[in-house]
Amino acid sequence: MGGFNDNGREHWASRAGFILAAAGSAVGLGNIWRFPYMTGEHGGAAFIIIYLIAIFLIGYPLIVNEMVLGRVTQRNPVGAFKALAPKTPWWLVGALGVFTGFVILSYYAVVAGWSLAYVYKVVIATRTAGIDHTDVFVGHISSLWEPIGWQALFMTLTVGIIAAGVVKGIQRWATILMPVLFIILVMLILRAVTLPGAGEGVAYYMKPDFGEVTGRTLLGAISQAFFSLSLGMGVLITYGSYLSPKDELPANAMCVVGIDTGIALLAGFAIFPAVFALGFQAGAGPGLVFITLPAVFAQMPLGIFFGILFFLLLSIAALTSAISLLEVVTAWLIDEKGWHRKNAAICMGLVIFIVGLPATLGYSALGGFSFPGLGTDLLDTYDWFANSIFLPLGGLLAAIFAGYIWGTRKAIEEANKGRTVFALGNWWGFLIRYVVPVLIIVIMAMGIYDSFIK
Ligand code: PHE
Repeated sequence: MGGFNDNGREHWASRAGFILAAAGSAVGLGNIWRFPYMTGEHGGAAFIIIYLIAIFLIGYPLIVNEMVLGRVTQRNPVGAFKALAPKTPWWLVGALGVFTGFVILSYYAVVAGWSLAYVYKVVIATRTAGIDHTDVFVGHISSLWEPIGWQALFMTLTVGIIAAGVVKGIQRWATILMPVLFIILVMLILRAVTLPGAGEGVAYYMKPDFGEVTGRTLLGAISQAFFSLSLGMGVLITYGSYLSPKDELPANAMCVVGIDTGIALLAGFAIFPAVFALGFQAGAGPGLVFITLPAVFAQMPLGIFFGILFFLLLSIAALTSAISLLEVVTAWLIDEKGWHRKNAAICMGLVIFIVGLPATLGYSALGGFSFPGLGTDLLDTYDWFANSIFLPLGGLLAAIFAGYIWGTRKAIEEANKGRTVFALGNWWGFLIRYVVPVLIIVIMAMGIYDSFIK
């Protein structure tokens, strides 16, 4: 492990380094900001059960698929498809991935910027008696320059890490930040579940209500699975391309899925018990962590301390995900266009920042603009297209490619190279050829029908 391959491609320096980097990509705003509010909006535990099924039937098979495509080709997403199917249009699937990475990072940095700002805003919010937390949040996001400044700072951190390289940048920061993230999360959970009245939140979180389940819920669950596992746009092709054929694959993929799902579920235990114990509602949508939680911290013993910790946790999680998004775009420019890593990271960081400006300005200068049928703000529109359309589509096409073009026999052989704790069997081929495509197509159709036509 470690070092470079014959063509000078950098490789992860250790098995843990790869797992932490991939888990760092997976664990992000999706786990700590999006998963709790999606759960709150879609009926608590019912959503969680559907989500877990989606993870096992779609998430795990596709994670393995991407890692194999990356490791066998040692290329970025575009180059990977070009290498396995030369002179065919399949490289467009990789191009869709690079494009999606662009779009996701552009608005991801906006929310991450709010989170950074809240590391100190939460102090003011929890200290001022009688303050209206909705006003604080709306005031922040609708002020013109402040959110842009935080967004710029967040992008600068991301660019700095990517410019430093795979081992010295991505791996090093994932190895430092992921354990910190875990320790903070455990502290927050211990605080939340020991509040008087916490049991009600735990009950809400654990009691399924299937009455609320619609096509939108199912699409919500798979879009959450794709987003949370960083699937469908080539992050795992790219990170997999820094593995060598000697490295473990099926079990590593399982570790990443386990860490990601575990942290999402734990985030719920840090949030819902506290929300209920202090008498708040859980269905607040995207504002849940920025409006409801500061109000909760304001009433909690040592709330300021836990408030700062929470937003630090959220910012760290966002950073290790954002670097993976930028790495996809950067790796594409390095491999396909011969750019230097530093130039690629800086240029793309700048362009992505600019593409994200409308999402920030959607709450101030561009307020009032909305996409027909979705009826939400611009940032939600970016999010909806990326997570409900582009990611599932990318995953679907990659599955069809492995299942019918490249062939599952070759893929399984590739995946089982190297040391394996357990080997992939034909069950994986069955999932990739039949279960994954059918589920994605049916659920996308249902969700789109519910969103636009019904
Ligand atoms: N998985 C990240 C999260 O949960 C988001 C992400 C999506 C990162 C796609 C990379 C690619 O926040």
